Amino acid sequence: MARKRVAVLISGRGSNMVALIEAAKEPSFPAEIVRVVSNDPSAQGLQRAEASGIRTAVVDHRTFGKDREAFERALQGELEANGTELICLAGFMRLLTPWFVTRWTERLINIHPALLPDLKGLHTHARALTEGRKWHGATVHFVVPEMDAGPIIRQARVPVLADDTEEKLAARVLEVEHRIYPEALRLVSEGRVQVVGGACLVDGKPVETFS
Ligand code: GAR
Repeated sequence: MARKRVAVLISGRGSNMVALIEAAKEPSFPAEIVRVVSNDPSAQGLQRAEASGIRTAVVDHRTFGKDREAFERALQGELEANGTELICLAGFMRLLTPWFVTRWTERLINIHPALLPDLKGLHTHARALTEGRKWHGATVHFVVPEMDAGPIIRQARVPVLADDTEEKLAARVLEVEHRIYPEALRLVSEGRVQVVGGACLVDGKPVETFS
């Protein structure tokens, strides 16, 4: 089967992007990373992608002012020019409008650093600590217009420890992010994920979740 053509969208350091690039180096991996696109020209991940021989592009949201759709049309143009079949958001910190999201239904994937539907939004590690959670984790999901609300493809949890700081907890979560994002991309690329009634089935079975 032909490998899926994947674009990874980043805004920052790109450690999840690196995990995806590394996984896709394996010839038997069912997806290839054809482009890394950043909305921020100073994103550290751009250099990391280039060091791995992946071509990069910048679509700087600031050049479009408040016009989100103009930004997204430029992004769409970049993705179409590369024959993108699937998009992975990897620390991409711009909210995407329904205009864009509905063009990529079940082909647009995000990773979120929490056990969704718990702890949507920002500062998830600090909130997990403040709120006294015993478990925390990461979720890979399809993107829908409502933020952090799409069908869950893969989820993994980590314990919150008594002496945790935000940094220690973030590092423990990041480790599982780097594992489950390539796993989820593999499942989607192999056509093993089906969305039924707003939830994913993987190989016909419900996804294990922990929230
Ligand atoms: C990751 O922890 C990712 O889950 C999170 O940003 C970090 C990016 O790190 N994403 C979000 O918070 C999306 N709302 P990375 O650039 O090293 O992959």
